Amino acid sequence: MTTLHTKLEETAGFLRARLGERVPRIGLILGSGLGTFADTLEDAVAIEYSDIPHFEASTVPGHAGRLVCGTCAGALCIAMQGRLHLYEGHSAATATFPIRSLIHLGARSFVITNAAGGMHPAWEPGTLMLIRDHINFMPDHPLRGPNDERLGPRFPDMTQAYDPALRTLAKQAAHALGVELQEGVYLASTGPTYETPAEVRMMRTLGADACGMSTVPEVIVARHMGARVLGISCITNKAAGITGEPLSHDEVTEAAARVRSQFQRLIEAILAKLAASEVSDDEITE
Ligand code: HPA
Repeated sequence: MTTLHTKLEETAGFLRARLGERVPRIGLILGSGLGTFADTLEDAVAIEYSDIPHFEASTVPGHAGRLVCGTCAGALCIAMQGRLHLYEGHSAATATFPIRSLIHLGARSFVITNAAGGMHPAWEPGTLMLIRDHINFMPDHPLRGPNDERLGPRFPDMTQAYDPALRTLAKQAAHALGVELQEGVYLASTGPTYETPAEVRMMRTLGADACGMSTVPEVIVARHMGARVLGISCITNKAAGITGEPLSHDEVTEAAARVRSQFQRLIEAILAKLAASEVSDDEITE
């Protein structure tokens, strides 16, 4: 049987051949309705997931299913325009193969974004939330099964899964732009149903500020392989039961589209700071 490590070698080898000299150190995962950021990358090379060995296609509207490598604000990035979700039928291990391969390729820091339901009645659709921590309600775990020590440890620490220095950097970038940035805990469940109002009340009681169907498996894998993570949720709707109105995917993508330009400016400012901080991580101060 082909091991995960062998698959990563094959995928990273394919990507290296397509990208030539360029080794992106920064990875981006662009959530529902937020994928257009990849179109703003300069000198870009786009590679369809369907052309990449061992990649599965994304089946969700609003997720293009393409890797785009290019420059933004002086930073060479590789963006996942669309991600794989557990509700599509993928195991957590399969859904996280793309981020593993980007880390294997050389990416060290990730900006991971998603669309999420907001638990705070005062948070209007379009609110941006920096993820401080998460609660994992997904039944499958991406590290379940034999561990390959070449990739990471058997029992990864998750105390600071969302890098404190990167969070400081994001807050500085938001402040400089005048963009309001909330901060909170993201709770992931598998979906594809939205939560019930009773579940939302439970999640709030447990300390969650936003709920969604992605991100957590990717963050676990990034931490397993030693990459740093910044997580940003776009609160596209008030979570179920808060307004009493039914939720829909159209509402999610429309809200994400409305906040797109603000979101893109924030990501660009973060990438500019990140590119500078890669020279000296010490420059990011609390
Ligand atoms: N719940 C779960 N996932 C989501 C939501 C939500 O309310 N909004 C966008 N993604």
